Amino acid sequence: MAALLPSSRPPRAELHVHLEGTLEPDLAFELAARNGVGLPYPDPASLRAAYEFEDLQSFLDLYTAGMSVLRTEADFADLTRAYLARVARAGVRHAEISFDPQAHLVRGVPLEAVVGGIARVLERSEAEHGISTLLIAAFHRDRDSAEALDVLERLLAMDAPIVGVGLDNAEVGYPPRLFQDVFARAELAGLRRTAHAGEEGPAANVREALDALHAERIDHGISVVQDPGLVARVVEQEVPFTVCPVSNVRLRAVPSLAEHPLPAMIEAGMLVSINSDDPPYFDAYVDDVDDAVTAAYGLTRDQRAGLAAASFRGSFLAQDRVDVHLAEVEAWRTAGA
Ligand code: ADE
Ligand code: ZN
Repeated sequence: MAALLPSSRPPRAELHVHLEGTLEPDLAFELAARNGVGLPYPDPASLRAAYEFEDLQSFLDLYTAGMSVLRTEADFADLTRAYLARVARAGVRHAEISFDPQAHLVRGVPLEAVVGGIARVLERSEAEHGISTLLIAAFHRDRDSAEALDVLERLLAMDAPIVGVGLDNAEVGYPPRLFQDVFARAELAGLRRTAHAGEEGPAANVREALDALHAERIDHGISVVQDPGLVARVVEQEVPFTVCPVSNVRLRAVPSLAEHPLPAMIEAGMLVSINSDDPPYFDAYVDDVDDAVTAAYGLTRDQRAGLAAASFRGSFLAQDRVDVHLAEVEAWRTAGA
């Protein structure tokens, strides 16, 4: 009989993943065939080979082009199911998944198809994959904020099952304050708030996301280390940062994992989790990210448990659910002792 080995991976939450960024090349080709959409690559392998990026914008160009295959409610359901099935094997017990409504509306895909397809799979996620989920509608900061406000009103009117709002796409030149009205409306509606800030942009964007948008969580936020006063504040206020170290290297926000500020952020006492962002594009789901940072920084089991605990503490789950997950992380930590 096989020995019962302690699991090699901690249970964790994934808090920073773009649903559209989970599109695997194989599924892209399957959906392209189903919908009669052409792709400018002969096969999945050549598409995957194109995943070499200069910066965030070069990635966003391919990411946006890839979405052309997503047309029907069934496509969004298939995409969501594929992500959940994959991360169930990565130790993920809770996922907070962002989607980009505007990216589909501009292509004429109805909001009902997008939300309906995602929601019907998320409803069954706990039973089918053992993963609880929350959904976040992210707005494109390089588009007009009036459009974002309109989309938010439509999501509210249709009672979309979203826990909160986010802000993504090109950061430089589009400071958080442009979306103050949108986030104020979301707050008034009782929605939670997260925002990409300090990915390619300065630490000032992190400060502005907190002050102007009342962001409760920061996505990436790696430039915060340039401002020690701000680091002290986010430590004091226990602001969660959803860091995506492999994404940052692949998009050249930092040259290598060795030069990534993640260890400094942890050392400073920040509430930091590790996440995938857009896994197939960077060839790394969250378990691969765990492996990469464990190898790069020589993390101990205790430190890996600390990152996993931070993922639950930084989630939008109710405290009683967080406590259950923290006990599971603690059991994993001590099982290896
Ligand atoms: N959308 C998908 N991935 C993103 C990233 N890393 N930064 C901003 N917007 C994104
Ligand atoms: Zn992101």
